[in-house]
Amino acid sequence: MSKRIQEQFDVDMRRLRKMLSKVIDGDEQSVRESLRKKEETRVLDIACGACVEADALTDFLADLRDEKGAKVKLTGIDVRAREISDAQRQFGGKKIDRKREVEKEFEFMTGDATKLDGHGELGDDFDLVFMRHQNYWNGKRTWEEIFDQALGKLSDDGNLVITSYFDKEHELAMEALQRLGGELVKTEFNEETRILPTPGKSVDRHVAVFRKKKP
Ligand SMILES: C[S@@+](CC[C@H](N)C(=O)[O-])C[C@H]1O[C@@H](n2cnc3c(N)ncnc32)[C@H](O)[C@@H]1O
Repeated sequence: MSKRIQEQFDVDMRRLRKMLSKVIDGDEQSVRESLRKKEETRVLDIACGACVEADALTDFLADLRDEKGAKVKLTGIDVRAREISDAQRQFGGKKIDRKREVEKEFEFMTGDATKLDGHGELGDDFDLVFMRHQNYWNGKRTWEEIFDQALGKLSDDGNLVITSYFDKEHELAMEALQRLGGELVKTEFNEETRILPTPGKSVDRHVAVFRKKKP
């Protein structure tokens, strides 16, 4: 990867961190309390590709939890084996974050996220389920299945976060998630979004957070 692209990704990640803080603004205390109830904070990154957001997500959760000695584990899944092996090479394994004094673990698997139920080893009760640049437009039925499975992997007070490249795709994805049992908590436009060459497309243009609807 060229130095210029890496720098762009670093800027995108700083902006994504800001957006994650923005969407949980006003609710941090209750999210922190719920994270502190468990020894390990777990995040499931669905359709993660090469998972360039791995550090941004785990840093965000570790900072939010703000507890020395805590553990944060990220599991990433994508159908593309090549991207998953890139993610594994760059981030895979356990490490100690000395600045935050937390243990981080990253694992990646190649798999179809419409069939998460078939991956018993994943477990349930994720504190955060994340989908960056969900691709609803590329296959409505596939993505509705993915959204359905994603909601099923959330803990009762967990948060599901999506980001979108396009306005309309974000709107349609939000509608689908609400139809499937998600309750929209907040959606925010990213004022610092990086514009891409395709008209109307930009990086993490919108970020929305959902919870499971209470029965
Ligand atoms: C727009 S890309 C986003 C990738 C990454 N999250 C990012 O922001 O760079 C959509 C991703 O969805 C993945 N994907 C599509 N269908 C999938 C499925 N059924 N199961 C798992 N991943 C899938 C693709 O392989 C691709 O990596």
